[in-house]
Amino acid sequence: VGLRVVDRGFLNTAVIQSYITFIDGDRGILRYRGYPIEQLAEQSNFLETSYLLIWGELPSKSQYDRFHDEVMNHSTTHVDIEHVFKSFRYDAHPMSILTSVFAALGSYYPEANPSLQGQNLFTKKDLASVQNMDKQIYRLIGKAPTLAAMAYRVRQGRHFITPPPGLSYTGAFLYQMDCLGQAEYKPNPVLERALDILFILHADHEMNASTTTVLQAGSSLTDPYSAIATGCASLYGPLHGGANEAVIRMLISIGSPDNVPAFLEQVKRREKLLSGFGHRVYKTTDPRSRIIRRTADEVFKVTGKDPLIETAMRLHDMALKDEYFVKRNLYPNVDFCGLIYKAMGFPLDFFPVLFAVPRVVGWIAHWRQMMLSPDGVKIWRPRQIYIGPEERAYEPIGQRQ
Ligand code: CMC
Repeated sequence: VGLRVVDRGFLNTAVIQSYITFIDGDRGILRYRGYPIEQLAEQSNFLETSYLLIWGELPSKSQYDRFHDEVMNHSTTHVDIEHVFKSFRYDAHPMSILTSVFAALGSYYPEANPSLQGQNLFTKKDLASVQNMDKQIYRLIGKAPTLAAMAYRVRQGRHFITPPPGLSYTGAFLYQMDCLGQAEYKPNPVLERALDILFILHADHEMNASTTTVLQAGSSLTDPYSAIATGCASLYGPLHGGANEAVIRMLISIGSPDNVPAFLEQVKRREKLLSGFGHRVYKTTDPRSRIIRRTADEVFKVTGKDPLIETAMRLHDMALKDEYFVKRNLYPNVDFCGLIYKAMGFPLDFFPVLFAVPRVVGWIAHWRQMMLSPDGVKIWRPRQIYIGPEERAYEPIGQRQ
């Protein structure tokens, strides 16, 4: 049997070799395919960064144009998908809706179904198979913002709408979110760019919980839609993608900057969690949080400042000086971006969806890399250390105490 060691929470287990994203948590470095996140946030756009993450290099102009068109052409959904949305209660959490529709989406594309097509469908490396795989990728990236916007609109009893051609990826998303369907709609360029930057920052983060979940599911050679649905389910939790929603709920519950010291004492007594602080990998400032601060300044010039900022700033300043947090290397993470989403008018429970839409790209980049690995795919089947009862004899129900 051999000696097994439990690695609780996978603190020290590498599950895969990857070419995609590099993090140095001690120095606060994040790079996608070698490019610093700061340069991508400053100079790239979300779709270009997506191409880089998935295919490994920045695209040429013609590669970019083709990718852009493929994604935008795949942004519409089959009309029957609308029924799935309409089966939810008006107050359903949009992450429940999104998780379900991603799972349902796979049933519309039988060519992606491994049980119909043979178990090695996505591990084949011939041109036709890779093209089939990439078609599913265009669909997933194209439809992610559409499904997200549909989850938003259905709860308001509003019709689903299709954006006019010519809008950017984030511009089309903003149009579908709140627009009443005016063809002349133009998203505010500052807010559109801010959302695009936030999408770049959220596109990938190596073996986070949801990406690991996608690969775990993908390792059984399930279809990519089902795998992405599992990623959404994992992202929903408040320790991961749900933290951006939890940050705002926490700030609202604190109520005012004056209440911050008492709140921090509760955190230190482990009665409360300081959402938006701490990270498994970063033991210094998350490089994305600096970009978020700059982006927030730009957004607030358009939207005005939210009163919660004062509480957030006091929390930030006090926690960074407090021995409890200093000793444990707890710094703000990416989830204070919820303040930007709030200023832009997104409802609180929609924030994790704004994490999921761009993270589809990271999930799919890792999934594609694993599927096409030269070593083939090995099913992820960890072991355990059994600590339950020894063998015992079954007793019929009438004879039990
Ligand atoms: N508030 C108070 N104490 C904390 C926090 C926090 N936010 N985060 C960690 N700690 C303490 C923790 O109690 C532990 O203390 P001790 O050693 O005395 O038991 C120590 O710091 C180490 O933390 P950990 O829980 O062992 O660290 P982890 O790597 O298992 O968990 C984390 C990482 C992100 C789940 C955790 O820091 C956390 O719960 N943060 C709040 C939720 C949050 O903001 N999540 C978003 C993460 S970033 C974006 C994403 O990936 O989605």
